[in-house]
Amino acid sequence: MKLFDVYPLNNIVIEKAEGSCLWDNQGTRYLDMYGGHAVISIGHTHPHWVKRIEEQLHKIAFYSNSVIIPLQQQLADKLAVLSGKTDYQLFLCNSGAEANENALKLASFHTGRKKIIAFTKSFHGRTSLAVAATDNPSIVAPVNETENIIFLPFNDINALHECFAKEGNSIAAVITEGIQGVGGIMVASDLFLQTIRSLCNQYGAVFIADSVQCGYGRTGKFFAHDHAGIDADIYSMAKGMGNGFPIGGILIAPHIQPKHGMLGTTFGGNHLACAAALAVLEVMENEELMKQTAENGAYLIEQLKTIPELQNVRGKGLMIGFDVSEKVKNLKKVLLQEYKIFTGEAKPNVIRLLPSLALDRKQVDEFLQSLKQAIIFLNQNPA
Ligand SMILES: Cc1ncc(COP(=O)(O)O)c(C=O)c1O
Repeated sequence: MKLFDVYPLNNIVIEKAEGSCLWDNQGTRYLDMYGGHAVISIGHTHPHWVKRIEEQLHKIAFYSNSVIIPLQQQLADKLAVLSGKTDYQLFLCNSGAEANENALKLASFHTGRKKIIAFTKSFHGRTSLAVAATDNPSIVAPVNETENIIFLPFNDINALHECFAKEGNSIAAVITEGIQGVGGIMVASDLFLQTIRSLCNQYGAVFIADSVQCGYGRTGKFFAHDHAGIDADIYSMAKGMGNGFPIGGILIAPHIQPKHGMLGTTFGGNHLACAAALAVLEVMENEELMKQTAENGAYLIEQLKTIPELQNVRGKGLMIGFDVSEKVKNLKKVLLQEYKIFTGEAKPNVIRLLPSLALDRKQVDEFLQSLKQAIIFLNQNPA
C-alpha cells in the first residue's frame, strides 16, 4: 500500500531524540530549532515525561468519558496554576483543529449566532469550520465554504470597528492567534487584541484566542494574548500540550455554561494523554521553562537583529521569525543540509524558529554561530 502523498519530505529518517537534539539513521546529530512544528515544549524524550507515560501505561491507557477520570481534574488544576485562568473550565480533545472547531461551535451555541470574524493570513486547522476560518483558499474544500466567516485585515483596528458597527449583533465570535504562526510570525498588537476584547464585550460576542501554536509558554507567558493584558473567553491549545503526545483542549470562561451532550469526543481526555500533559506542566513548573524561554528568546532576537542579511526580526520568547534577503534565500536548505539544523518556514521567504522551551543558552549560541557561517557560505556561493 502507498502512503497518501500530501507532504513534501526531507530525505531524512530521524531515529532518536533528546532535548533539542535529533539523530538520523546514519548517526548524524541535528539541532532542532523547529520543535517538530512547535510541538516539542519540554524537550524530546524528557525523562519525567517518559516515566509518567510508562507508569500510566501499566495502569490503564484509555477508558471512555463515561466514567470519572481523575487525571482530567488533576490536569485542569495544574493548568489553572500555570495559566492563571483559575476560574476557567477545561474541555479536552485531540488536536489543534479540533480545539478550534469546538471553540467556534461553543461560541455559536452560547450566542445563538452564526457569524465569525477571522483575519488575513490566519491558520486555525483543517476541520470543517476551522479551515473555513483559515485564510488559505487552497486548503478549503468546496464543502467547507461558508458565508458565515468574515475575513478582516490583521491588526486593523478601524476594520474591526466598522465591521462590528455594521453587523455586531450577528457576530458569534472573533478568532485570532496572538502571534500568527503559519502566516509568518506576525505579532498581534496589544491595541488590536484590546479592541477585540472591548468590542466582544460591547456586542456580546465570544473572543477565541487560538493558542495552538503561540500558547503554552512559547512566548514566555502562558498565552501570547497575555502580553496585551486581556483575557479571552476561550483559549484553544494543542501542540506543546503533550510534548508530542496528541492532546488538545479549550479553556472556557466561567460565564459560558456547559450542557450535557453539547461537545464530545471518544479519545479526548484519555488517561494516557492526561498523564503526558501533566508531565509537561510539571516540568514547565519545576524547570521554570517560561522564564528561561523569555530570557533565551530575548537574547536570540537581539542577536538576530545584528545580522544584516536578516530583515524584520520579530516574535516573542521562542516564537521567532525573520525575512531572508534574495541573496541568502536558500538559508533554510543550507542550514539543514550543511549545518544539520532544522528550522521552519513560511512563504515566501520567512524562517520560523519554534524550538523546545528547554533549549539552553549553549544551543542558542551554537545556532547563531552556524547561522552566521551559513550566511557566509551563501554569500560566497550565490544560487
Ligand atoms: C495557530 C494554529 N491553530 C491550529 C492549528 C491546527 O492544529 P492541528 O494540526 O493540531 O490540528 C495549527 C497548526 O499548525 C496552528 O498553527
